Amino acid sequence: MSFSIGSFNYRALVEKIQTPFYVYDSEKIISQYQTLLKALGRKIQIRFAIKANSNLSILRLIHEQGGGVEVVSGGELLRALKAKIPTNRIVFSGIGKTEEEIRFAINTSIEQLSVESLEELKKVKEIAEELQKEIPICLRINPNIEAKTHVKITTGTSENKFGIPLSQIEEASKLITKSAYLTYLGLSVHIGSQIQSVEPYQQMFRVIKEIAQNLKTKGYSFKRLDLGGGFSVPYSTDELPFDLTAYAKALKEELGDLDYELVIEPGRYLVAEAGVLLTKILYVKRTPNRTFVIIDAGMNDMMRPALYDAKHPIIACETGINSTGKELMDIVGPVCESSDCFSKQVLLPKNLQPGDILAITHTGAYGASLSSTYNSRALIPELLVDKDKLFLIRERIDPEHLLTFEIPRCLT
Ligand code: LLP
Repeated sequence: MSFSIGSFNYRALVEKIQTPFYVYDSEKIISQYQTLLKALGRKIQIRFAIKANSNLSILRLIHEQGGGVEVVSGGELLRALKAKIPTNRIVFSGIGKTEEEIRFAINTSIEQLSVESLEELKKVKEIAEELQKEIPICLRINPNIEAKTHVKITTGTSENKFGIPLSQIEEASKLITKSAYLTYLGLSVHIGSQIQSVEPYQQMFRVIKEIAQNLKTKGYSFKRLDLGGGFSVPYSTDELPFDLTAYAKALKEELGDLDYELVIEPGRYLVAEAGVLLTKILYVKRTPNRTFVIIDAGMNDMMRPALYDAKHPIIACETGINSTGKELMDIVGPVCESSDCFSKQVLLPKNLQPGDILAITHTGAYGASLSSTYNSRALIPELLVDKDKLFLIRERIDPEHLLTFEIPRCLT
């Protein structure tokens, strides 16, 4: 159990900046990046899914490692450009791109537009022809594979809204070759997130291989397979790390003998374990039924427990807490919802007190990027530890600032 991040003790951080806030460790992000490269080979192209953590400083860090990004909105594309990610390392996915976003992507000359429906492909064709600019297309397939993860983060079955059904891939391929402005870059796929076993990936590799070969025999040629993200991280000591060696073996067995450039889009794997949410205890409320530890971070700051029943480790990090006496407690936030609960019936030191710090760990992915101002609360700060230096990488955004957008203007 660690009470520090890089060379900074949690207490020292809390003395510098008001809780709650996120703090990330750059060294952990770099080591996750390097672990991926080592396991999968340096030829693999990494496009970090920035929905996991889209802070500009994190994007710059990924860029320094040689990685590109996967974006899913005009806003994310803007961030990638601001972080100076080269446009030939930007992949744009998502099922509901607006005309404006498609124009933005084409005008920016990004490396890959992942198209998710025949309907969208027709729109992209229309816009590319109007702009008279080429755009490289990957068709995102829906392989109808169950990734065996939480139902809310499963994306590759025929019940899901993502990707093009296999029965429509040939028609989509035909459409691409009909336009001088659409280039057939390849196929892409993403079957889900927090995937703990390699087996669904192996199935997916087989499906994508079969489709690619089938299209090849029909005369369609392309060079890229983008295999998406989804690698799990262990959120508790009983969970095992994702078996990258087995993934690499399956990848080699299924796709190794083919001549495609391979891309992956990891999000969580790169950043989840690098982040901690530091929060202070406001009250310890003892009722006849339960002990509630009420903290200053809420579900608006970290949605994962409320959305996916996610359990993040919670560390009581005050030195001097007598850990011999423990008690079952519910760790809850101040938001007016019963789902604003970080952990139910967790064993923590009995003598926790207001002002003590709790660290909610493994929160570097889908933490700050999923947060909101619900209950008119602030968007909390983000910090980055870079070896012996500490940076504030996003200021707190206070309700007072947000209120400046609410001055009525008559539109009629
Ligand atoms: N590529 C595409 C097309 C995606 O939709 C996603 C994530 C990724 C890559 C990255 O997946 P990762 O490697 O992070 O698993 N908010 C949820 C996760 C939603 C993931 C959405 N798509 C959570 O907190 O668990």
